[in-house]
Amino acid sequence: MAACTVGSYWMNHVSLCYSCLLKRRCIFSKLRSIHWKSIYQSRCRLQGVNLIHTSLPLIQEGVIAAAQTTFRGESSQFNRQLVLGIETSCDDTGAAVIDDTGKVLGEALRSQKKVHIRYGGIIPPVAQRLHEQNICQVVNEALEKAKVTVGDLNAVATTVKPGLPLSLAVGTKYGKNLALSEGKPFIPIHHMEAHALTVRMIKEVEFPFLVLLVSGGHSLLVVAHSLDRWSIIGQTIDDAPGEALDKGARRLKLRNIPECASMSGGQAIEYLASKGDPHTYEFPTPMGKYRDCSFSFAGLKHCLEKLIRKLEKEYEVEGGNIIPPVKDVCASFQYAITKHLVRQTQRAMVYADIRSLLPKENQTLVMSGGVACNHYIQTALQKLCDYTGYQLLCPPPKLCTDNGIMIAWNGMERWKAKRGVLYDKEDIEAVDFLAK
Ligand code: KG4
Ligand code: ZN
Repeated sequence: MAACTVGSYWMNHVSLCYSCLLKRRCIFSKLRSIHWKSIYQSRCRLQGVNLIHTSLPLIQEGVIAAAQTTFRGESSQFNRQLVLGIETSCDDTGAAVIDDTGKVLGEALRSQKKVHIRYGGIIPPVAQRLHEQNICQVVNEALEKAKVTVGDLNAVATTVKPGLPLSLAVGTKYGKNLALSEGKPFIPIHHMEAHALTVRMIKEVEFPFLVLLVSGGHSLLVVAHSLDRWSIIGQTIDDAPGEALDKGARRLKLRNIPECASMSGGQAIEYLASKGDPHTYEFPTPMGKYRDCSFSFAGLKHCLEKLIRKLEKEYEVEGGNIIPPVKDVCASFQYAITKHLVRQTQRAMVYADIRSLLPKENQTLVMSGGVACNHYIQTALQKLCDYTGYQLLCPPPKLCTDNGIMIAWNGMERWKAKRGVLYDKEDIEAVDFLAK
């Protein structure tokens, strides 16, 4: 099996720091002054230094004055780096302001879950309208909670791929316009990379590590080599596990059970499965004939559909009524999904070992994405990790599902490393969203 590398960001700007400005090593011709003017302006404002930007030497003077103030250590506020993150890839409108230590200063999230549960699934134009209605308020709420203005930010990071095109379009347009109008650098974010790296906000996890990304749209096993170098070693050939859980929950009409009415499909199945017997119904093993790390959930979904039809007939269930053995069905379905995830993850560990993709010591498996909230799956993977000697890390549920914090954090990591940060107006304008 060939490992392929994805996620190629590259730097197209000469990065500048204050010490290099002082030493006059900067290539001023590469500066598009509008961004830097406003960055210096807001920093100088914080320091009470007057910055007059009528000519380059004066910009330099202002910066030097501000830098000298910092070197005297008079303000920690001045050193603080701030990134705003914006997320609209699916059905959550999220925004957050984060500092360079990973501290969340302000956060806001509007979930569209209740609306989509009512419609029986995400309807893209509805998701787009709700994002448009909420985005301004969500961003302002995050900024207000953080007690900062856009002028105080170092950069604006926004999810531009992958996701629902109509949803991505809203955030991408808003984030780009905000950055351009305020003269801020823009950082385009890959949604799945952000899921995979959220864990580094909580714990210092060294590269490389193995990641299992499981959400409503993806099922991926990847080795994270660095911020922007990834090897995909397994992915789904059809549905994602979250998709199978959501469709299964819909078919089981779980929203008609009052306790489950406001839960996502995955959450509802986990909740009911905890009261059922996972060995009541048997599901086939997906990809049984293959020896790679690919996933497939469509077969399990079809088997569930067949089972529900059989049970509905047997129990003479009609309309919006629920089949009596619903808890056992949920438990058995969750067990089948878990077994498949664990089996392929174990293969990925073997593959990573054969290919020496991970260090021999301190091997780490990170699980992230919405499905990673599932405790049953977490427990099963923990057992695998105990057996193979990996440490399992999983962000808290709030950070596993879509949110603005993970985008802000990925933006901050990129800002600090100066990777994939866009400064030029033309470069920012040229950014487009990408569904796949
Ligand atoms: O990452 P996410 O918020 O959005 C996508 O990028 O897709 O993941 C949403 C998915 C949904 O399919 C939802 O049913 C699933 O995560 N999910 C869960 C749980 N909570 C959310 N799946 C299993 N168990 C859960 N507790
Ligand atoms: Zn997601």
